[in-house]
Amino acid sequence: MTLIQRPRRLRRTANLRRMVRETTLTTDDLIAPLFIAAGQHITKPISSMPGHAQLSVDQIHHEIDILMERNIPSVLLFGIPHHKDGHGSQAWDSDGPVPHAIRAIKAQAPELMVIADVCLCEYTDHGHCGVLTPEPGHGDVLNDPTLDLLGRAAVAYADAGADIVAPSAMMDGQVGAIRHALDESNHHQIPILSYAAKFSSAFYGPFREAAESTPQFGDRRAYQMDPANSREALREVDLDVVEGADMLMVKPAGPYLDVIHEVRSNYDLPLAAYQVSGEYAMIKAAVQNGWLDERRAAIESLMAIKRAGADMIITYYAKEVARWLAEV
Ligand code: PBG
Repeated sequence: MTLIQRPRRLRRTANLRRMVRETTLTTDDLIAPLFIAAGQHITKPISSMPGHAQLSVDQIHHEIDILMERNIPSVLLFGIPHHKDGHGSQAWDSDGPVPHAIRAIKAQAPELMVIADVCLCEYTDHGHCGVLTPEPGHGDVLNDPTLDLLGRAAVAYADAGADIVAPSAMMDGQVGAIRHALDESNHHQIPILSYAAKFSSAFYGPFREAAESTPQFGDRRAYQMDPANSREALREVDLDVVEGADMLMVKPAGPYLDVIHEVRSNYDLPLAAYQVSGEYAMIKAAVQNGWLDERRAAIESLMAIKRAGADMIITYYAKEVARWLAEV
């Protein structure tokens, strides 16, 4: 049979497929999240995120060694403080878990890029991402009073030596407020990676166990984005670009590939996507049941995020994927 067009001609061998492959996934793309617990001698496995644990600063040395050995360029830090309060004041304490970890990592591996997540939810006793109006048990998250606190936290992390700050609270004006606070403290060179389009997602479930940041009442729908909206995502991105974001992020990643694609098509800033805890947990759970080939499923999920247009991927698979990529 004469078929002029036979796409299968280019799929015959591994090297031919390599030659025509449109998207590449490399270790350069990976950002590894770490959960830093206040205190000492803590290695507390996170049951819904196999392979991950809360670590106290004295326990991270080995983890950093592995990430360096595997040539991963960057880590993203979250803190679990000793004490939580209504304002999340441990978030900007220079003695808090994140500043401690930043100093330790910078002493051990100065070239590793340290990104500090900037939010209050891990530090507030109510678990919301900002301060509340006074009604106990059902307060609203106050936008403008929260901005000042986010700015303080960003400065505390920059003072400790963070290379990049990443605000994730979804308060209006947070990028501008943080830029202003950083500049006032002479941190003109510290870039902001903005969680520009962060959706109110069910897929953050395991993270909230990991970071002990589940809201004590209500949910985050009054500040994080409605999963149904993509035009609004572009508007959020636009505002952050105007406010001075240096890099953008879409989060979660896998269920929002269309949003990643839209942002990539409309903006030239570097774009990160966050493959969140629930995306990781789903693959892990299926693998533990013998239902998926882990290596193929993990790499395919990340390749899809790259194909959609992300330049960088924050993923709990960073360490394992870096090892697999080095093997091929
Ligand atoms: C907020 C924050 C969250 C995540 C990253 N930063 C949780 C939330 O908004 O509830 C989720 C990440 C994940 O699920 O992996 N500081």
